[in-house]
Amino acid sequence: MKIKRRNFLKLAGLAGFGVAGGGISKGFVSGHSDTGGTGLPKLIKEYGQSHIQHFNMSGYAAPKINNVRVGIIGLGQRGPSHMHTMSLIEGVEIKALCDIIPEKAKAAKKKMKGTGHNPVLYAGSKDEWKKLCERNDIDLVIITTPWYMHTEMAVYAMEHGKHVASEVPAAGTIEECWQLVETCERTLKHCMMMENYAYMEFQLLTLNMARQGFFGEVVHGDCAYNTSKMRNNFSKKMYWDMWWLKQYARRKGNIYPTHGLGPVCQIMDINRGDRLDYLVSVESNDFMMAEKARKLAAQDNFFKPFIGKDFRGNMNVTTIRTKKGRTIMLQHDATSPSPHNLIHGIYGTKGAALYDPQPPKLSVGNHKWVSQEEFNSLKEKYTPEIIGKIGEMAKGSGHGGSDLLLDWRLIDCLRNGLPLEQDVYDAASWSSIVSLSEWSVHNRSDSIDIPDFTAGAWKTNKRNMDINLERGGNTKVII
Ligand SMILES: NC(=O)c1ccc[n+]([C@@H]2O[C@H](COP(=O)([O-])OP(=O)(O)OC[C@H]3O[C@@H](n4cnc5c(N)ncnc54)[C@H](O)[C@@H]3O)[C@@H](O)[C@H]2O)c1
Repeated sequence: MKIKRRNFLKLAGLAGFGVAGGGISKGFVSGHSDTGGTGLPKLIKEYGQSHIQHFNMSGYAAPKINNVRVGIIGLGQRGPSHMHTMSLIEGVEIKALCDIIPEKAKAAKKKMKGTGHNPVLYAGSKDEWKKLCERNDIDLVIITTPWYMHTEMAVYAMEHGKHVASEVPAAGTIEECWQLVETCERTLKHCMMMENYAYMEFQLLTLNMARQGFFGEVVHGDCAYNTSKMRNNFSKKMYWDMWWLKQYARRKGNIYPTHGLGPVCQIMDINRGDRLDYLVSVESNDFMMAEKARKLAAQDNFFKPFIGKDFRGNMNVTTIRTKKGRTIMLQHDATSPSPHNLIHGIYGTKGAALYDPQPPKLSVGNHKWVSQEEFNSLKEKYTPEIIGKIGEMAKGSGHGGSDLLLDWRLIDCLRNGLPLEQDVYDAASWSSIVSLSEWSVHNRSDSIDIPDFTAGAWKTNKRNMDINLERGGNTKVII
């Protein structure tokens, strides 16, 4: 660790703020990245030149932890969902829970009654989560607060000797992406972003097919998170402090990229043989949110602060090129009343797959989708071990069973001392799209480089998503 740390802090504009003390940069507070003309491209270049990899976290295995002691920060929708799932997994002890709102913390603890878990509560002020991170009887901190808070919490937890599993995205600015990488490499604590869509059945199936050569060379991926959140985002009860609506009212670009992008990156071996190189991003105007805010505000003063805001456009389309010359088309639309759509289209030299619109389809490269019968037999042939092992049990859990699969495999890897299935470089590169796409939208869709968070190690890093459970897989689920 020769640097370079000082350079990093200087470049990140953090010197004097004390990262270890949980200090925060201006960019973090606003959740805003640098959208100016040359500012961000220059910063990306400088980060790239000054960063030396302290330790390659790709493939890193921490010492085994037989009983994984867990603390959870943020108990809105997502926190209690992970809490419940984690409580079903062998070798998990839920030690502590934290939410700024005491009622949320108490309600979550109540749900633990009769499960054998007796978590200590931290609540009532915005910094209580630090006390949870400072405890010396916690191994893993799960972060389920609004995403612009994730990096500060993750960095603090790692600095206090904890592994981290953060909800998506893990970071909202390029500075934050580098903070995650730098802290993870220095502390040797895992920093995983919990991209659960990587564990959806069709996504796992197509990952296995790609690895077995079904698609030939994968040339292109289409992906998206297109689902209307108009009702949720304008609801006064749904999210803490209207945080999602505030993000849509202040930012541009794809502010929720990882559900679509993560599984495609895994299929393309991004950060392990290939890497994201550059992107361009185009965005429609907003045709719905400002109008809805105006109408609501006419009857309810609560919505007045949202009047006249320059809302993010309805549709953002980001196109990414990889170093090996593959392409990815990534969309995000949280407004239009069209059906939920992840797309997940994989196009190769020999075959293709398409998840949405449903039903899922496969092609063997003869310009047609295969019949249902052939689909079933291909599915049987290529279904990876992880689905056979735990997929049936997972079916009852959220997001098509992916929530249980992800949490189970995370704990299984920690208990067996195995590398985690998504590492800090995945967290940083997938999350970096938030601010890079925003910059491109602000700059007439100019292209912008995607940082190499692996510092060149992508050329030799090995695959890490062990979907056929060659190691581990022995942790039980209590259902
Ligand atoms: N992977 C998925 O499928 C999925 C689904 C939904 C949401 N998410 C992600 O999960 C995260 C949480 O989303 P949500 O829907 O649960 O939001 P939410 O608003 O329902 O919950 C956030 C919680 O954080 C708490 N909080 C706010 N500030 C805090 C602080 N300083 N200390 C402690 N607690 C604090 C709030 O009181 C609230 O209970 C987001 O990052 C979101 O992007 C992921």
